[in-house]
Order: sequence, then C-alpha cells, then structure tokens
Amino acid sequence: MTVLDIQGLSVSYATPCGELRALRDVSMSVPERKIVGIVGESGCGKSTLISAIIRLMAPNARVRSGTVRFKGEDLLALPEAQMRGLRGTEISMVFQDPMQTHNPVLTVGRQMIDIQYRNKRSKADKLKRAAEMLSLVGIPDAKARLNQYPFEFSGGMRQRIAIAMALMARPSLLIADEPTTALDATLEVQIIKRLRELQDEIGCSILFISHHLGVIAELCDEVVVMYAGEVVEAGSVRDVFHNPAHPYTRALLDCDPGHIKEKTRNLPTIPGNIPDLVSLPRGCIFADRCPQRHDACTEHPVLSESSAGHRAACHLIKAGAPA
Ligand SMILES: Nc1ncnc2c1ncn2[C@@H]1O[C@H](COP(=O)(O)OP(=O)(O)O)[C@@H](O)[C@H]1O
Ligand SMILES: [Mg+2]
Repeated sequence: MTVLDIQGLSVSYATPCGELRALRDVSMSVPERKIVGIVGESGCGKSTLISAIIRLMAPNARVRSGTVRFKGEDLLALPEAQMRGLRGTEISMVFQDPMQTHNPVLTVGRQMIDIQYRNKRSKADKLKRAAEMLSLVGIPDAKARLNQYPFEFSGGMRQRIAIAMALMARPSLLIADEPTTALDATLEVQIIKRLRELQDEIGCSILFISHHLGVIAELCDEVVVMYAGEVVEAGSVRDVFHNPAHPYTRALLDCDPGHIKEKTRNLPTIPGNIPDLVSLPRGCIFADRCPQRHDACTEHPVLSESSAGHRAACHLIKAGAPA
C-alpha cells in the first residue's frame, strides 16, 4: 500500500518580482513501511513540498495543481479541522531545529504528557509512556530527566526528544526535514541508526529530507532527487546511487558512490547557479549547468524509466544512451 502519493503537485509563491514557481509537476510516493529520502540543493523546494503535504504553507504560497493523497485521501481537499486532527497523530514531523518543537518554559515530561491529550490514560500512565519513549530513543535515566527543561539537554538529546515526541502517537508517516543537519557527524550516525530501528518497530513510513547523501544512503530505501523545483530522478537508493541516470545526480555523487560516506556531508558544489524560478528557462531545467547538454535539451524532458522503478528526467535516457 502507498501511504503518501503525490501527483502533479505545483506550488507557487507570490513575490514582488512575480510568481515564483517553487514546485512544478512533482510526483512521488512513500510506500508502507518504507523510508524515502529527498535530496537536493538548498532552494530546490524540499521544505515547500513538506509544507504543502502538511498544509502549513506560507501565506503567499498557492497550490496551483496536483493531489497529495494520504492513505488514499486527498489532503489538499480536506477540511482544516480534519487536517489538524491528522497532524501530530497520523502524520508527525521533526524539524532541523528541535527548539521549534520544544516549549522552553515547560519540562520535557510536561510536554510529553501534553501531546498525549487525545488519550484518556491517567497522568501516571502518560508519564510512564513518555519515559519509555525517551529510553527508546536512547536517553539514559529517562524517568528522572522528564523533570528537566529543554535547555538542560544537549542539541543531540533535544533532537532525540523531538523524535520521541513525534513517534509517541505511533504515526503512519513521519516527516523529517533535515533533522540531523545541525548535529555533529557521530551524533548524526547514532540518531539515524536509532530512527531506522524505531521505524521498523513502529512500522511507520518516513519521508526524510537531507542534503547529506551519506545519511540518505544509510537510512533510506528509496530516494527522490530534486532540482530547482522538479523531480529529476527517483528510484531505489541502490539504483540511484550506484547507477545514477541524471547528470545532476551524477554531479552530486561526484561520479563516485564510494565516496558517499566520507566526503558528502555537504553537497558538492556544482559550477553555475540554479535558474531563476520567477522567469524559468525553456527546456531542461538543468541544461545551463549540464556537462552533457545537447540540442534536444531545449525541450523539457519528462521523467522516463531507465530501468524498472528507476526514473529520470533526461533526454539521454529516451535516446537509449544513459552515459
Ligand atoms: N514564503 C516564500 N516566499 C517566496 N519565496 C519563497 C518562500 N519560501 C520559499 N521560497 C522560495 O522557494 C524556493 C524553494 O524553497 P524551499 O522549499 O525552502 O527549498 P529547500 O527547502 O529545498 O531549501 C526557493 O527559491 C525559495 O527562495
Ligand atoms: Mg528547507
């Protein structure tokens, strides 16, 4: 079953310079019990995509077209009250800065009780569950630490608490927007491992945003590569990382998947700039920076399969000659 299925999603922002077309015809899905990663340079539309899914969009944002189906139901057409009911229960979120999640003036225990407000359990029971969840994400001495305030925890601990809180409701879908980007590499690895274990235990799906290719490779089953508001490649982590079909993905991987682990905590810099999303160029969105640009690239390429379940938007695939 597909937990999340996005089809033809286009989102624009109204700006003083005109309409900024942040997402164009984005289609992707998250199967049940799978972890799907989204990777791409800053500004490619990752956060816009998430905000459209959970319908917490900037006031100047507008969905131009598309559907976002969660377990078959189109979230974009759902009344706000029902949408609110889904957030934090069926769909949970973890953000880069855990301070966004935590209230600084309440103890962690208090906050973890508060998020169980829909539940009729006793306070003692809720505290017990909170402590269990903290232990699950690897916080030692969890029971005692429930009495502490967010500032009394390190950044890594706070992010673990945010994950514990997000998973407390046993959601079907966890959406994580760069949750480990602010942490050091060792902590990042620990949290990723834990997340994988928890996902397996809880049986949820995860949509995981990161610009750290190593983390995506380690954590995810499938990956979606975005560039300037479009999906340029998607498939299993194995296919995409070991046999990238789009020149942009190849540039990201620096032609050497063996280097993923050590080198790519930050995406490699590719010469050139992302195009202006207010006045988009004709044809392929990556043509400007593409080492394999050719005549056909003045036409916009559609996503086509380079192998079963592995798609990329590049004319070289259609020509039957993925380099
Ligand atoms: N509220 C907004 N108003 C205008 N432009 C925005 C707004 N939010 C994001 N953008 C623009 O939309 C594009 C995608 O941004 P974003 O989704 O934040 O990308 P990412 O998360 O991949 O870094 C960028 O060009 C960004 O400048
Ligand atoms: Mg972002």
